[in-house]
Formats: sequence, structure tokens, C-alpha cells
Amino acid sequence: MSTFWSLWIGIITLVTIIGVSWVLVSNRRVSVKEKLKDDEVPTTGHVYDGIEEYDNPLPGWWFNMFVISVVFAIVYLVLYPGMGNFPGVLGWTSHGQWQAQEKKAEDRFDVVYSTFAGLSIEELAVNPEAFKIGRRLFGNNCAVCHGSDGRGSYGFPNLTDDDWLYGGSPEAIQHSISHGRKGMMPAWSGVIGEDGVNQVSEYLFKLGARDHDASLAEDGAKVFATFCAACHGADGSGNQALGAPNLRDDIWLYGRSPLLIKTTIRSGRQGLMPSQNQQLQASKIRLLSAYVYSQAHQ
Ligand code: HEC
Ligand code: HEC
Repeated sequence: MSTFWSLWIGIITLVTIIGVSWVLVSNRRVSVKEKLKDDEVPTTGHVYDGIEEYDNPLPGWWFNMFVISVVFAIVYLVLYPGMGNFPGVLGWTSHGQWQAQEKKAEDRFDVVYSTFAGLSIEELAVNPEAFKIGRRLFGNNCAVCHGSDGRGSYGFPNLTDDDWLYGGSPEAIQHSISHGRKGMMPAWSGVIGEDGVNQVSEYLFKLGARDHDASLAEDGAKVFATFCAACHGADGSGNQALGAPNLRDDIWLYGRSPLLIKTTIRSGRQGLMPSQNQQLQASKIRLLSAYVYSQAHQ
């Protein structure tokens, strides 16, 4: 915050506190009754439909509550940040508090995780204790995209089947989680045109043993060999090094309908698996890898 805004906030805050204190004290009437006769009640002089407004002093406890809140505000602003750039004498920051809590949690978890350190991912996958922690970590970090059961949805791969974009070995899974993945399916409409999209789609239906137009599929085979085989493989069975899916099976990341398949080919797709190694410690990523591995190999 610049010095100007720091002063701006500080001065407005101070003036406000002094202002409300002044209003409070200057309007205080301890007892007006002395000046009046016994049966007279002080009024403000306001009358509405013959009803007069009494002018009694604030009850003492009420007045004291005001005083306490003003004192609280001052003490708070001395101890904690609030007055512009003044950090408060305690030096507290929300970031610092978060870090301290994080550190405490990590120290606690380290003890738990150290018992898993010597086990391989395959061994962890059959360890009930590790499974429980892995499932919780998955629920907190992965379920938003892959579903709480890990079965994925449109654009988010199912992690419980044996069909892998990038491979289902413990190492490949761990790599996917730790470093993230980015699928790069280019857009083809500008290259092969609408005719090419139709032809190659019919060819994919043929590969998948679905209804197709034989002559369009024949032309499509040529389009495929020229433009698609480099990534999806000569026979269309995919390439895990590139995350290019198998197009022969009936598992579709972006839908199996002809309309969706054509949309994918026309406009391309860029699925993004965010890397986790910034947010999660290596020990947690290992447990997650084991959890995913166990789900896929039940
Ligand atoms: C923001 C959404 C998102 C989150 C959160 C997310 N993923 Fe993913 N994940 C994806 C997408 C999208 C892909 C597919 C990437 C692609 O299309 O190339 C993917 C791919 C994967 C793969 C590779 C699958 C394969 O078939 O090879 C694994 C394993 C995986 N995620 C595990 C996890 C785990 C474990 C977590 C939790 C730590 C997680 N993901 C969190 C979106 C997400
Ligand atoms: C540069 C490599 C590359 C080339 C070339 C390529 N693809 Fe892809 N394709 C991919 C990748 C990677 C994905 C997965 C995208 C993702 O994960 O978001 C994909 C996804 C697809 C899908 C969606 C699969 C699903 O499960 O929903 C179809 C369909 C497809 N490609 C067809 C084609 C066709 C047809 C061609 C040729 C015209 C082609 N691709 C060329 C890399 C490529």
C-alpha cells in the first residue's frame, strides 16, 4: 500500500474513533432529574400525536459497552494490522498464521508418512492404512475434476478403468499427478476442411466397428494416415507418450456421439491436468498414486 493510502486509512480510522468517543461523551447526561421536580420526567421536547419522547440518560451498562468497544478497537489496532501499513506490535499476518498451521500439520503428518516411506507404490496400493489416507487426499484434491469415485466425466478421464492416456504404471501415474499433463489435440478444420472431417470421422467409426459410410471411410483412411497417425498411431490405438487416446476402443474422453467426435476433430482439445508438486508434498503424491493405482487394478 502506498504511503498516501496508508495515511488515508490511518487518519480516517483515528478520526472516526475520536469522533464517536466525542459523540458518546458529549451527549452523556448522568442525571438531569435533580433539576426537575420529583414527578416530572425529562423529555426531548418532541411530541407526536400527544405522545412525548422521554429523554432518559443511557443506562450505565449500555454506556460502558460503548466505552469497552472503543477501548477494544484501540487495543486491537495497536496489536494487529489495521492502521494502513502499521503491522501491529504483535507482527501477526494471516499468511504467517497459515504457514505456522501448515508447518504444524506437516510435522504431524510426517510421522505418519514416514512409516510409508520404505514401501513401493504397489505395496502402498494394498496397504489399508495408506488406502484410507489416499482416499481422503483424493476427495480433497482430485474429486472436483475426476469425481469422488474417480470415474471422471466429460473431459476428465476415468481413473478406475484400464484405459490410460499417459500410462497406468506406478511411475506414469505418479508423473501425471506430480508434473501434470497437457493434451494437445490440434484443430483440423482449417487443414482438412469439412469434407476431411466427415471422411476421417467415418473412418474412426469403422475402426470402432460402428455404422459407417464405407466410401467416406476409405477416403478417411488416407486423411488419417496423413494427419492423425503421427500421434494416434498408424492403427489408431493411440500413443501414451503424447497422451493421444486410443481411437479404436469405445472409451471417449469428449463423448462418443458423431457430433462430439466431429467437434473434437474440427476445433481440437486441450485437456489440462494441473501439476500437484507445488501444492502437495512428495509423500502425499505417492499415497495418491497408490490410491489411483489400486482403484484401477482391483
Ligand atoms: C482441474 C481439474 C483436475 C484436477 C483437480 C485433477 N485432475 Fe487429473 N486430470 C485432469 C484432466 C483434464 C486430465 C486429462 C489431461 C488430458 O486430457 O491430457 C487428467 C489426467 C490425470 C491422470 C492421467 C490419466 C491417464 O489416463 O493417463 C491422472 C493419473 C490424474 N489426472 C490423477 C489426478 C489426481 C490423483 C488428482 C488429485 C491430486 C488430479 N488428477 C486432479 C484434470 C484434473
Ligand atoms: C499432435 C498430435 C495429434 C494429432 C496430429 C492428432 N491428434 Fe487427436 N488427439 C491428440 C491428443 C493429445 C488428444 C487428447 C486431447 C486431450 O487429452 O485433451 C486427442 C484427442 C482426439 C480425439 C478425442 C478422443 C476422445 O477420447 O474423446 C479424437 C476423436 C481425435 N483426437 C481425432 C484425431 C484425428 C481424426 C486426427 C487427424 C485429423 C487427430 N486426432 C490428430 C493428439 C493428436
